[in-house]
Amino acid sequence: MTEIKACLFDLDGVLVDTAKYHYIAWKELADGLGFPFTEQDNERLKGVSRAASLNILLEIGGLNFDEAEKEKLAEKKNKRYVEYISAMDSSEILPGALDFLKECRTHEIKVALGSASKNAMMILDNTGLTPYFDAIIDGTHTSAAKPDPEVFLLGAEALKTAPEHCVVFEDAEAGIEAATRAGMVSVGIGSPETLGAATIVVNSLQQINVARLRESFVSA
Ligand code: BG6
Ligand code: MG
Repeated sequence: MTEIKACLFDLDGVLVDTAKYHYIAWKELADGLGFPFTEQDNERLKGVSRAASLNILLEIGGLNFDEAEKEKLAEKKNKRYVEYISAMDSSEILPGALDFLKECRTHEIKVALGSASKNAMMILDNTGLTPYFDAIIDGTHTSAAKPDPEVFLLGAEALKTAPEHCVVFEDAEAGIEAATRAGMVSVGIGSPETLGAATIVVNSLQQINVARLRESFVSA
């Protein structure tokens, strides 16, 4: 890469800590259906769309439902999830996220959201993050889920920036694969064991700034 022109951020687990609310809401659904659902099971749902998450949950419980019933179950889970995220505020922005978003502005690096969530707008508004984005692509704009590159390609298009000048920030394996398939470099937020396919991996956005990104990615 010759220049970093845009940063594309996943939402859940990168900018805000919503995984705990997804977990509680899915666990309540599993409790109601009569099977255990652990935090380790929940790892399998990270980065995965709502419908695909329900399929994994039902597979764990060894249960089968028809499409109409599955829709009702997904709605039930989402209703609970929305109750939790309705109460979110800026205290739930993950460490380093706000400073880095501000730094992108200072350096005139464009910023887009690339999230699978259909609740992204509510989360961005409640936490006060909306004004930091030049483009927002979420689960209401996409037809294919990560690891399909669609969400990031739409983000790059909205920012009028070529994929080779974009950096993706992701905490899910499927998201890193989506970035690579979009022709973008990536920063994995989390553990190198699961995110080894990312171009670089850090613990949190606290370890990242524009100078470090340039050092890691800009070669000429
Ligand atoms: C992703 C989360 O960002 O969004 C997944 O990592 C979640 O866990 C997916 O299932 C869809 O979110 P929502 O808010 O549309 O149910
Ligand atoms: Mg995520």
